Amino acid sequence: MTKKNLLYAQSGGVTPVINATACGLIEEARQNKDQLGKVYAGKNGIIGILNEELIDTSKESKSSIAALRHTPGGGFGSCRFKLKGIDESRAQYERLIEVFKAHNIGYFFYNGGGDSADTAYKVSQIGKKMGFPVQCIGVPKTIDNDLPFTDVCPGFGSVAKYVAVSIMEASLDIESMASSSTKVFVLEVMGRHAGWIAAAGGLAQQERGDPPHIILFPELPLDEEALLKKVDKAVKTHGYCSIVVSEGVRDQEGRFLADSGVRDAFGHAQLGGVAPVIASKITNALGYKNHWAVSDYLQRSARHIASKTDVDQAYAMGKAAVDLALEGKSGVMPIVVRTSDKPYRWKVGEADLAKVANKEKMMPRSFISKDGFGITAAARRYLEPLIHGEDYPPYGRDGLPKYVRLKNILVPKKLENFDL
Ligand code: F6P
Repeated sequence: MTKKNLLYAQSGGVTPVINATACGLIEEARQNKDQLGKVYAGKNGIIGILNEELIDTSKESKSSIAALRHTPGGGFGSCRFKLKGIDESRAQYERLIEVFKAHNIGYFFYNGGGDSADTAYKVSQIGKKMGFPVQCIGVPKTIDNDLPFTDVCPGFGSVAKYVAVSIMEASLDIESMASSSTKVFVLEVMGRHAGWIAAAGGLAQQERGDPPHIILFPELPLDEEALLKKVDKAVKTHGYCSIVVSEGVRDQEGRFLADSGVRDAFGHAQLGGVAPVIASKITNALGYKNHWAVSDYLQRSARHIASKTDVDQAYAMGKAAVDLALEGKSGVMPIVVRTSDKPYRWKVGEADLAKVANKEKMMPRSFISKDGFGITAAARRYLEPLIHGEDYPPYGRDGLPKYVRLKNILVPKKLENFDL
């Protein structure tokens, strides 16, 4: 019997460690080449699969694949593209099957967040409905950390570390200038509707009173009066006020403070730009000079300060995805299962894709302090181990990290073009 090929695709916003997952998956498939065919990757995710643009990863050297482990971005390209229900988008599903058949694909791996789990689940249904058996495995990833079941989503730990380190460093800067200059610093972080990344800023506080003095979560509507009082108190007590704000913060009416008006393929509002809104509210009301920063893609790509725990978990998810396929599984996703907080211990488990799809896991209220502006001991217990350890990329003589750019050679097309 001919061996079936594997098809891997990256989806949605990338992370500092999504390529570590790709590395784990490809290395594990190469280890099992007696049972598995080649690993192909969709160029720019599922769009590449629909366009029959399949990257042949067997053309990449062992060292290039190994270097994916420490390279940020999405090595094969990613996309935001929503496959609708099978009945609505039958032509797209039929096209996927046609591509799978043409290239002898037996296993499909979709590496993404909640929307991607939904797509992977739908694709897992195709085989059954259209009479072509393909094993579909979702592979978790999202800096937002909002997937259910898994203890953590690969990508989050590294962004959490970047945010905690950045607010710690910026706060030392402002502290040294505050007596005659800037008194308020606002750092905006991603996370969409979930406050996990903002909460991670709280890890910078080692002693009571340490910065950040305020964290603003999307889970709670903004109470402007309470915020201003808290800022004033921090400035009067510490000489300055350092703030982490989540891009998804809403007003009392439930409107995002920073909705750019742009919607992506999934109908999500593009957020970003809440830091200057908060900073100017403070300066207008209290007169304090401010600085603000939007960490945006810097946080999502900061591989140089990745969490070793996160890198290890990202790699393990890729490897486990192949192992699940070898066990004959489909419609599942490997997950991280926490077995102990201190010392932090985890193992690989699995979740049913149908249950993962389209669910967002928010910060529980018990992780947010009573006044709504900080994190609790329970949050700290959860978050702390996720930023443990460093996994620096190798650096070259030029002083820059040695990141890999793959050759990304496409498999020759066999089909007619398809109109997306
Ligand atoms: O889903 C991950 C994420 O980084 C969110 O935190 C952020 O709101 C969004 O992606 C940004 O998406 P895009 O890069 O498509 O604008």
